[in-house]
Amino acid sequence: MAQLWGGRFTKETDQLVYNFNASISFDQKFYRQDILGSMAHVKMLAKQGILTDEEREQILDGLKGILKDVESQKLKITDQYEDIHSFVEANLIERIGDAGKKLHTGRSRNDQVALDMKLYTREEVAAVDELLNEFLKTLLKIMEENLETYMPGFTHLQKAQPITLAHHIGAYFEMFKRDRFRLYDIYQRMNVCPLGAGALAGTTYPLDRDYTAKLLNFKGPTLNSIDSVADRDYLIEFLSALSTIMMHLSRFSEEVILWNSNEYQFIELDDAYSTGSSIMPQKKNPDIAELVRGKTGRVYGALISLLTTMKGLPLAYNKDMQEDKELTFDAIDTVKGCISLFHGMIATAKFNKKVMEDSAKHGFTNATDAADYLVNHGVPFRDAHGMVGQLVLRCLEKKISLDQLPLKEWKEICPVFEEDIYEAISLKTCVERRITIGAPGKKAMEKVIEEEKKYLQENEKVLDFLEELV
Ligand code: ARG
Repeated sequence: MAQLWGGRFTKETDQLVYNFNASISFDQKFYRQDILGSMAHVKMLAKQGILTDEEREQILDGLKGILKDVESQKLKITDQYEDIHSFVEANLIERIGDAGKKLHTGRSRNDQVALDMKLYTREEVAAVDELLNEFLKTLLKIMEENLETYMPGFTHLQKAQPITLAHHIGAYFEMFKRDRFRLYDIYQRMNVCPLGAGALAGTTYPLDRDYTAKLLNFKGPTLNSIDSVADRDYLIEFLSALSTIMMHLSRFSEEVILWNSNEYQFIELDDAYSTGSSIMPQKKNPDIAELVRGKTGRVYGALISLLTTMKGLPLAYNKDMQEDKELTFDAIDTVKGCISLFHGMIATAKFNKKVMEDSAKHGFTNATDAADYLVNHGVPFRDAHGMVGQLVLRCLEKKISLDQLPLKEWKEICPVFEEDIYEAISLKTCVERRITIGAPGKKAMEKVIEEEKKYLQENEKVLDFLEELV
């Protein structure tokens, strides 16, 4: 048991208590951030005359050595330490002796852990953003290639109106683009440095908090020391953004699963992204999409869990907050994995354009356009709606589509119909006449694609702050 306290205790900690309390098994994940934070702290202490330049050099050398040795796995992080902070400090003292004991001057584990978690999360916000950026590029490519791939658009899972695959994928492009904006917003709000808040009430040492904030690439220091150590809002916001990303991926997964089914056959997943059945030789299952859909619950769980943990906590730090870590790490790893795999699955999937187009031809997706034809000839929309409804009924009885119905029968319902109705309700016409911005017509989609391209160019690496910190 190696811990950073004990002076006022007369007994050893019970082993079960020690185990229950310890966080090393998971907070070792941010060993690098912990060391970088300490390096900034030490530089500041020396600048303020709290440490000598010699002590500063000794400590910095020691910390760099620890970082190097952990990274090369020469030094193993073991559970003989309570947490990553104890691990680093104990190793430092072992390496450089007394100077190492000065590292924690003017600092508490409360502001230290708040900093470590923020540094770690900040990098992960950028990493998720980068994955989404790459995914968006693939979606845009699919859009560019499918401006004339007609398919049915659905409402209530019933065929509604014809659209194109570019238009459908474009909806997801917008969703994941918004997700990136959310990450950017979160980053802006969280990018203030809690180091120097101490346990909760600052310290009596003349710390230069602006300096450490600058060294660590923050906008500046946090403005209230109590809030600095008690705040986990940024994690809740991040988990909420991650949940929204999962919700989007899950809806997309649901469509992939449907589209890949024998009934739809809109897409065929690549063999490399499908799985088989142990008993049914014919099966090719969309397990990746199903797992992504399934893992959504796990990420929502993290959000609800942390919200619930935080809801009753009095100010400032409480040990409950240690619970923020495992669930956040798990959610981040889950979402990153899901984006990468889903991306690979979509990039390699084959779209069965002919099946999609045939599907749009049936199911009366052009009925609205038939009604619009009448409106363009002076019939009030409500009447037109009723008449086309009757035509649909006729077709249903005959088991044919509207374009297969002879003109004579159209005219029986409304004499206004002429030969050009067939042109008016062709799939191509139905789609290509929808040219208001945001609609599926090729002209409108081309404009949108230009805008999305511009967006991608201007937002490559918006959160690129990962240069060497200290
Ligand atoms: N492992 C702790 C956490 O994750 C570090 C902070 C400990 N602070 C304390 N006062 N016990 O929250």
